[in-house]
Amino acid sequence: MTELLEPHAIGRDLVRRDGADKVRGLAVYAYETPVEHAAYCHPVQSRIARGRVNAIDTAAAEALEGVLAVLTPLTAERLPAAEDAELAVLQSTDIAFRGQFVGVVVAETSEVARRAADLVHVDYADDTHDVTLAADRDDLYAPEKVNPAFPTDTTEGDVETALAEAPVTVRQTYTTAMYHNNPLEPHATTALWDGTSLTLWDSTQGVHPARSAICAVFGLDAERVRVICPYVGGGFGSKGVPHAHVVLAALAARAVPGRAVKLALTRQQMFSLAGYRTPTIQRVQLGADREGRLSAIAHDVVEQTSRIKEFAEQTAVVSRHVYAAPHRRTTHRLAALDVPVPSWMRAPGECPGMFAPEVAMDELACELGIDPVELRIRNEPDVDPESGKPFSSRRLVECLREGAARFGWAGRDPRPAAHREGGWLVGTGVASSIYPAMRQPSSAVIRFERGRYVARIGAADLGTGAWTVLPQITADALGVPSEDVDVLIGDTDHPTASVAGGSSGTSSWGSALVAVARAFRDKFGTEPDDGDEIDGSSGPNPEAEQWAMFAFGAQFVEARVHADTGEIRVPRVLGVFDAGRIVNPRTARSQFLGGMTMGLSMALEEESVLDPRFGHVVNHDLAEYHVAVDADVGDVQAHWLDGADPHVNPMGAKGIGEIGIVGTAAAVSNAVHHATGVRVRDLPITLDKLL
Ligand code: MOS
Repeated sequence: MTELLEPHAIGRDLVRRDGADKVRGLAVYAYETPVEHAAYCHPVQSRIARGRVNAIDTAAAEALEGVLAVLTPLTAERLPAAEDAELAVLQSTDIAFRGQFVGVVVAETSEVARRAADLVHVDYADDTHDVTLAADRDDLYAPEKVNPAFPTDTTEGDVETALAEAPVTVRQTYTTAMYHNNPLEPHATTALWDGTSLTLWDSTQGVHPARSAICAVFGLDAERVRVICPYVGGGFGSKGVPHAHVVLAALAARAVPGRAVKLALTRQQMFSLAGYRTPTIQRVQLGADREGRLSAIAHDVVEQTSRIKEFAEQTAVVSRHVYAAPHRRTTHRLAALDVPVPSWMRAPGECPGMFAPEVAMDELACELGIDPVELRIRNEPDVDPESGKPFSSRRLVECLREGAARFGWAGRDPRPAAHREGGWLVGTGVASSIYPAMRQPSSAVIRFERGRYVARIGAADLGTGAWTVLPQITADALGVPSEDVDVLIGDTDHPTASVAGGSSGTSSWGSALVAVARAFRDKFGTEPDDGDEIDGSSGPNPEAEQWAMFAFGAQFVEARVHADTGEIRVPRVLGVFDAGRIVNPRTARSQFLGGMTMGLSMALEEESVLDPRFGHVVNHDLAEYHVAVDADVGDVQAHWLDGADPHVNPMGAKGIGEIGIVGTAAAVSNAVHHATGVRVRDLPITLDKLL
């Protein structure tokens, strides 16, 4: 049994401990790390999407004053242990996608490095490339598993018969766009070799996972590599695993031993080198009786990966857990294209995967004449449909009911395009959200020194609040005020901790800190001596064997569409979440608001446009890749049903980083349909699709 903490510091809306340093510019980020006599590097990128490098002329670059080294696949050192094709940087003359690294210049200044990179002349043998995803490709394949390790396909019952016999069906195809993470801080690394030891100041969501990946590439023992990252200017998954630029910086630094080399990707470079969310084509089929009880759910997904490395987004996995239909099928099929490697983006799987079924549920509600909130409540399962396990806690129905009450849903006229204010068509929509509550092994150390408790753990704060909430948790486990506790993070010299990903950071690190704090109390009592210290760890959650663990939410959206121009405005987004106990309402609220805002942005603004002629994203900057800005965001409200989940961890807290984005785009599409009568099944919802 999980022994829950008494909340004292937990639950308080303490201000961010790192906030003052951040706003005063005193928080040091990876690229800014003060090092003596730094050198700078700039990559050379492939201008073809598939083929080979025939020859490279580096003479003009090398002749430029201030250039220290130019590395290419023809000259770079061999990394025989580099098995991850994305990280095998400059190891081959083969080109797998446009934008791939084909060289790097190291120079005295970043300006010289950039100019010299332009002067490197690459001669290519260009093969025909293929970057176009389509559901009717004949080379689609089923991956062995989908991210991170879910079965690719599942079936329960007899879906086809159930669909054929259902009195009411919805059978539609939905698509989500290719999306790119755009954290404010670009991906950046400062790398320094000292003999055979490497130090990386890297903007990362996990110093220990980053170290493991880099050690594997360079064939180094863990003690030879240190990764340091106290602050991260956003990641959203794109800094969850090291991408090729980290290896490039380390290779570049090898060329100037004893000097640190700095690399910051430009915004444009990030569009081919830092991962992205795959576009998806989702076929959803629902069968129901006239009362709206689902008999069948089929969710069949086509998406892309790269030719050199597989990343299989777990898009259909949500449909295994949300609603109680006895007949279910989920499948994933991939096309391996000549494109950059897709990767994590906030709620990979759940986010694009909830768009299609939650719009389909709205279509079903319209078809049946049943309120969409009520339709969802009627399909609430008693146990997890997939595993048959009971839920550790599941308050989706309460989220829907409380959201409806707060939003003012009662009395809604269900007819589409029935409400007009001036030139604006007004509508409202709803969607459900689900995200797994995960926990990973982590370790920590706590020491009593000079009257304070100092904990150390290799955790990461990518703007989420870890610097602030981990002392709250540790203090409650020690039974002291949080002001007496420091928790130091972001360095592989601290004990090993898991990645800040999958909304599992606070759960994983908090569990380790609680375990160590309790051991500290057992060993040293309440009046420890200076220097008393103990370390320990926490493993995976043993209760996961018995319970299905998820966070839930419901988002409500008001959309206004101009009757003449098709302009879309979203004045209101309101979410109610079941995320267990909230450790810090201030930082949690930011996470929920950020998630919903990113979902709004996904629904209306964001879309990476891949030019099939060249194989690259043409709108590769913030001028043309539109993210929601302040003027696009109206009243966004986050509420939650507080109360500990008794099984997830000693804090009773489920993850909160990703649940906010999950249903939001579907709720926007449903609201736009209610406003206009036009059903947009292809994201983003732009005005041309409404006129
Ligand atoms: Mo999140 S995409 O798991 O960093």
